[in-house]
Amino acid sequence: MAAKAVSGRTRIRGVGGCVPDRVVTNDDLAGLMETDDAWIQQRSGIQERRHIGESTGAADLGAVAAREALERAGVDAAEIDCVLFATLSPDYDMPASACVLQERLGVPGVPAFDVRNQCTGFLYGLTTADAFLQSGRYDKVLLVGGEIHSTGLDYTTRGRQVAVLFGDGAGAVVLDRSPDEGRGILSTHLHAEGKFADKLWLEGVAGRDARRLTPEMIADARIFPQMQGRYVFKHAVERSVEVIREAVESNGYAVSDIDLLVPHQANLRINQAVAMTLELPEEKVVNNIQKLGNTTAATIPLALREALDDGRLKEGHLVCLVAFGAGFTWASALLRW
Ligand code: UT7
Repeated sequence: MAAKAVSGRTRIRGVGGCVPDRVVTNDDLAGLMETDDAWIQQRSGIQERRHIGESTGAADLGAVAAREALERAGVDAAEIDCVLFATLSPDYDMPASACVLQERLGVPGVPAFDVRNQCTGFLYGLTTADAFLQSGRYDKVLLVGGEIHSTGLDYTTRGRQVAVLFGDGAGAVVLDRSPDEGRGILSTHLHAEGKFADKLWLEGVAGRDARRLTPEMIADARIFPQMQGRYVFKHAVERSVEVIREAVESNGYAVSDIDLLVPHQANLRINQAVAMTLELPEEKVVNNIQKLGNTTAATIPLALREALDDGRLKEGHLVCLVAFGAGFTWASALLRW
C-alpha cells in the first residue's frame, strides 16, 4: 500500500471505555489473603477495582469501549482502516486480541495487531498509530487498551504484593488527522531498558523454556507476575519525571504550561511524587486508580474519558500523557487537545 501526502496532526477524535460491573473492595481481598484496607490504601491509594464475573476476554471489554469511542467520534466502524490492541493479557496467546476485536466490530480485511508493551502499551500504540496517520498509510485508526488481570493473579498471601493492585478494564480511542492547525499530537517519546526485565515480569508460560509449562513453574508461582515493588516504584518516579520534561521541552514549553497530566495509574503515590517533583498542582493531574486499580494498557484512555466526562479536559488544553512499566519501558505524549 503506497503512502500519500497528508496534512494535519494526529488527533484523538473519540474516547470510550468499559469496566466490568463487579466491584471488588479491599475488604473483599482481605477475605482471600492476609491484607487489609489500610495497607492497600496507604501504599497504593486503591480502594476498589473491577473484576469480570463470567468468562470475558480483553477483546470483549475492548469491543464495548471501541463502540463508545466510535460513537463519540461520529465515525462508523466501517471507516476504520487499522486496528491496534495494547494488552499484556490477550484473549489468547495467538491470534492477537486485535483480530478478535476486529471480528467483533465487523471490519474484515483491515490490518489488526497487538502491541505487547504492558503499562506503556497505550503510548507505544499511540505512537504507532501516529506514524501510520502521518505517513498517509491509514486515515482512521482504532487503538484499544484492554486487560483482564483477575484471571491471572495469585489471590493468596503469597501473591498479595501484586494481586491487590490490578483491575480489569478497557479504553479506546479513534484517531485521525485534525483539520485545525496546531491541534493534535505534538510529539511522542518512547524509551526502554531491557536490563531491568526481571524486576517486573511474568516468567511462565515461557517460550524459552524447553517444556513451556512445568509443574515446578506452577509450584514456584512463576506463572504469576513478580515485581520488586520498591525498585520499580523508584524508577517509575524518576523516568516519568524525565520523560514529561522531555515532552514539554522538545516542544518549547515549560512543565507549568501543562493544563492536564494524564498519567498511567500504577500507584497513586507514584503520581503524587511525580507531580510534587514537577510542582504540578493536584487539580492538573488525573487519578482514578482509587476506583479502578491498575488496568495497565487501559489506564490512560480510561482516565482521558473520565476527564472529558467531568469537564477537566477541555478543547485547547495542553495535555501530557505519561507511562512507566515492565521492560522497563517508559513513554510520554504531548497533545494540544
Ligand atoms: O504498573 C506497573 C508498574 N508498577 C508499579 O509501578 C508498582 C511500583 N511499586 C509499588 O507500587 C509498591 O512498591 C507496592 C504498592 C507494590 C508495595 O508497597 P511498598 O511500600 O513498596 O511495600 P513493600 O513491597 O516494601 O512491602 C512492605 C511490607 C512487607 O512486609 P515486611 O517484609 O516489611 O514484613 C510485605 O510483605 O508489606 C508487606 N505486604 C503487604 N502487606 C499487606 C506486601 N503486600 C502486602 C499486602 N497487604 N497486599
